[in-house]
Amino acid sequence: MASLSVSGVSKSFGSVPVLIDQSLEVAEGEFVALLGPSGCGKSTLLQIINGLTSVDAGRVVLDGQDVTGKSGTGRGMVFQGADLFPWRSALENVAFGLEVMGVPRKERLERARHYLHLVGLKGFEDAWPHQLSGGMQQRVGIARAFCVKPQLLLMDEPFGALDVQTRDILQDELVRIWEAEPKMVLFVTHGIEEALYLADRILVFSKRPARVLKEIVVPFERPRREAMKLEPQFLELRREISELLRHDITA
Ligand SMILES: Nc1ncnc2c1ncn2[C@@H]1O[C@H](COP(=O)(O)OP(=O)(O)OP(=O)(O)O)[C@@H](O)[C@H]1O
Ligand SMILES: [Mg+2]
Repeated sequence: MASLSVSGVSKSFGSVPVLIDQSLEVAEGEFVALLGPSGCGKSTLLQIINGLTSVDAGRVVLDGQDVTGKSGTGRGMVFQGADLFPWRSALENVAFGLEVMGVPRKERLERARHYLHLVGLKGFEDAWPHQLSGGMQQRVGIARAFCVKPQLLLMDEPFGALDVQTRDILQDELVRIWEAEPKMVLFVTHGIEEALYLADRILVFSKRPARVLKEIVVPFERPRREAMKLEPQFLELRREISELLRHDITA
C-alpha cells in the first residue's frame, strides 16, 4: 500500500532551525493540505519529501523506500509558477518526466497528449509557454506532474498566482483528475478556504520552526460544491483556523 511517512525530521539552514523533529503520515489516496505562516518551512518540508533538500536528522519513507537524492519517479511536483521549460512546447513539457525515465518518444508523446487533453488544453500541444496564459501554464504543470503517474503529488501553492475565477476552476479540475487517478497529495496553500474545499485533512503549522499546531479532519462529503463555502460548519472551521494562525503569528 502506498503511503508516506516522515519521521523525526530536523533541518536548519546555517544557524536557522526550520524544522525540529517533525513527523507526519499520509495514507494511500489521501489529500492533505498544509497551512502556515510565510517563512515557516512549508516549501522546505516539501523539498525534503521530494528528496531535493537533505535533512539533518530523520527519515522520509515513501512506499517502503527511503527517499534520497534527486527527484524520483514516485513523486511529482507542481510549483507556484508552473516553471515550464520555455524552449519546449506544451506537449514536450508534459512529456519531460517520461523522457527522463527513458520512455520511448512515441509512447511518451501519446501519454503527454492524454494528460494535456485531461487538463483542457486540446489544441495547444505545439504552443510555447509564453503563448499560454498563467492559468494555462499551470494546467501544463499539473499535466506534467500527473503524466509520470506519481504515487505522491507535491503541490507548493500551485494556484497562488492565479485570479480567483481561474483558481476556482482549476481546484475543481484538480479534484476531478485526482478522483479519476487517486494518489497522495500534499498541497501547500495560504488559502484556508482552498484547504477546506480540497483536502481530506489539514495540517496547520506554526511559525518557524514549523510544528503542527493542529490537525483537522475535514468533515465535508465529496463531491464538494461551491455552495458549501457558505455553510455554518465551513465558516466556523474557517474562522477557527484563521484565529489559530493569527494568534500564533502575534504570540
Ligand atoms: N536554500 C535555503 N538556504 C537558506 N535558507 C533557506 C533556504 N530555503 C529556505 N530557507 C529559509 O528557511 C525558512 C523557511 O522557508 P520556506 O521557503 O520553507 O518557507 P515557507 O513556509 O514555504 O514560506 P512561504 O509561505 O512564504 O512560501 C525561511 O526562513 C527561509 O529563509
Ligand atoms: Mg513556500
